[in-house]
Amino acid sequence: MSLKLKRNIFGDPANKGNLLTRDAAMQLFQEWVLNPKLQVHMLQVAYLMKSWALEKEKLDEKGQWMWEMSGLLHDADWDQWPDLHCIKIIEHLESLQIDPDVMHAIASHGPNHFGVDPINNMDKMLFAFDELSGLIHAYSLMRPNGYDGMDIKGVKKRLKEKSFAANVSREEIQDAANRAGILLDDLITFIITHQADVTTK
Ligand SMILES: [Fe+2]
Ligand SMILES: [Fe+2]
Repeated sequence: MSLKLKRNIFGDPANKGNLLTRDAAMQLFQEWVLNPKLQVHMLQVAYLMKSWALEKEKLDEKGQWMWEMSGLLHDADWDQWPDLHCIKIIEHLESLQIDPDVMHAIASHGPNHFGVDPINNMDKMLFAFDELSGLIHAYSLMRPNGYDGMDIKGVKKRLKEKSFAANVSREEIQDAANRAGILLDDLITFIITHQADVTTK
């Protein structure tokens, strides 16, 4: 089964700046994503994206929300329509005339799967956070104190241990950091220090 999108252009440039309201995005998220674990993953990636947009990119509130929304919806169709992963959510957002940058970020969150390369910083950070966030969260769940006292060394040990979160591609994590131009250590630190804050129900 191929998830290749076979296109590189998404949405209409005339819709630049069009985003969903937070309520509409949350409603879509709740309706489409029923699996609680996947919900946690998407909320975590959304929070990392928002935090990065604020702290590193120094974006205004609207810019932060665009990053957060891309993170919040990047796996929206994975739960109920895995064969249409990326296709369904992108077509849906296109029908709602959303900013093309949001669809492009979602389309490039797995270049090896969807055949679309991350281009701008929002694309690159979504790709960089996606798999590593999940691996670090899995690690927090097996530690007695969760994120408390977690350090880079521990995460790197888990990265070397092939049996740990075996479905997470280590090559992809390194490739994503390289493309974003960020040291893996810095990326790990950012995730550890922010991910613990995410409130999940
Ligand atoms: Fe995905
Ligand atoms: Fe994801």
